[in-house]
Amino acid sequence: MHQEAVVAPLNTPIEFVSTFTRYAGTEVIGEGGTGRVYKATSEAGDILAIKVLDPARASKDRRRRFQNELTFGLRNEHKNVLTVLDHGPIRLAGNDTSFYVMPLYVCSLRKLLQTKIPKTTALPLFTQILDGVEAAHLQDIVHRDPKPENILFDSKDNRLVVADFGIADFSRRTCTRPLRRMTGHALRTLSTQPLSSGFGEGTQRSPRTSLRLG
Ligand SMILES: Nc1ncnc2c1ncn2[C@@H]1O[C@H](COP(=O)(O)OP(=O)(O)O)[C@@H](O)[C@H]1O
Ligand SMILES: [Mg+2]
Repeated sequence: MHQEAVVAPLNTPIEFVSTFTRYAGTEVIGEGGTGRVYKATSEAGDILAIKVLDPARASKDRRRRFQNELTFGLRNEHKNVLTVLDHGPIRLAGNDTSFYVMPLYVCSLRKLLQTKIPKTTALPLFTQILDGVEAAHLQDIVHRDPKPENILFDSKDNRLVVADFGIADFSRRTCTRPLRRMTGHALRTLSTQPLSSGFGEGTQRSPRTSLRLG
């Protein structure tokens, strides 16, 4: 199951306040296992996206994973990995949780795959995913869930970014907090499908990076 089609304008915008500025979350544009993603407008008028850790699902383990995801995104400099722009705390329905701000993308790869992607476009797009995953591997981070819902598309420059490092393995990194050890099997979600599906027959995987999960 994937929840791409959740587009719901909010009657009352949610106010997100970071250290230096504030944002108005105006509509829900996505939802997954961790929380909700909102379309938002910054004080300066930029249209962005904000991901919020659902307080109802925010166990200690999930909070740490969210923190790792956020920290990694803040430090990112690779064009095929999601960059986090800002972050902060928020109180929702009486519960404290966290949010982070990122660029707004047109859609996820899941939606893009519903259109007919020509073979000539498919291979360069697939290579971009490998580049993003490889960039994480080079920092000793294994994504573990690179399904199409977790890859976002920028139509301005035909660019894909690997997003949602929520169940990534950061344990080999010295700068992160230890996480409770869980098996890769338990962390995978049911909608995970091979990334090659929908990319057209005959697409070869780059030998540079393995997409094996776990
Ligand atoms: N920056 C973004 N721009 C547009 N849509 C986004 C963005 N980030 C996430 N989404 C949408 O929200 C969905 C859930 O986001 P994701 O980070 O995968 O959350 P979760 O960790 O809960 O799975 C994605 O599958 C995608 O459809
Ligand atoms: Mg996701």
